[in-house]
Amino acid sequence: MVGIIGGSGLYEIPGFEVVEKVKLNTPYGAPSDEYVVGKIGDRGAVFLARHSREHSIPPHKVNYRANIWGFRTLGVKRIIAVNAVGGIRDDFCPGDIVIPNQIIDFTKNRQHTFYDGPEVYHIDFSEPYCPEMRKAVLSIDNTVHDGGTYACTEGPRLETPAEIAFLKLAGGDMVGMTGMPEASLAKELTLCYLCIAVITNYAAGISTTRLTTTEVIETMKASTERVKLLISELIKNLPEERSCSCKDSLKDARA
Ligand code: HPA
Repeated sequence: MVGIIGGSGLYEIPGFEVVEKVKLNTPYGAPSDEYVVGKIGDRGAVFLARHSREHSIPPHKVNYRANIWGFRTLGVKRIIAVNAVGGIRDDFCPGDIVIPNQIIDFTKNRQHTFYDGPEVYHIDFSEPYCPEMRKAVLSIDNTVHDGGTYACTEGPRLETPAEIAFLKLAGGDMVGMTGMPEASLAKELTLCYLCIAVITNYAAGISTTRLTTTEVIETMKASTERVKLLISELIKNLPEERSCSCKDSLKDARA
């Protein structure tokens, strides 16, 4: 079963045959919305709107732990996450799609782990994104950018140009507010996690135009058809069994 987390402007997937909507509660509280359980082709899939279908939950208020826990409860082994980001790297332009391979966490006030004690665990996070799913998605569409570092900020405010200059120096290629702790929580539960990052704007100071929430959502919507197609092709092409090392992250940490 594959989970899909829709970001701003992505609330449904074409060809998604809805079977049921499931409202869950978890030991960590309520997920963002009902999980929409169904099928894409002959593959089981579950969709969740990260900000809720009304887009009423800001990035710093998303209950990331509940969302990821809920997916696992439903039997999901792989998660495809769609995230709106601002472009920092020169060749990352609005409308582009990037499949990041690294992430830097600049968030500061989020419930970011399932390992809150008494059990002490340090998961291996050297490969934050599933290599098997990255390879599969890159083989479907050769216009998407292969790799880049996602710098995740706390939000909800956008960054200053000085902060973006700092993130660039630190190695950030794109900036968003929802990449963490989603990616590491998935890893803690040994789920494969892929990020499809949609560049919705130039980050602050990269271009002089002021950014609005409407622009983010409108650019996301304009890329939505491509993203949806990418997701349905990816799900159809993924091997049934996982052959990546994501499921071993805990074993590695213990060793
Ligand atoms: N900064 C932070 N988060 C974002 C941006 C941005 O420029 N664009 C979309 N999400």
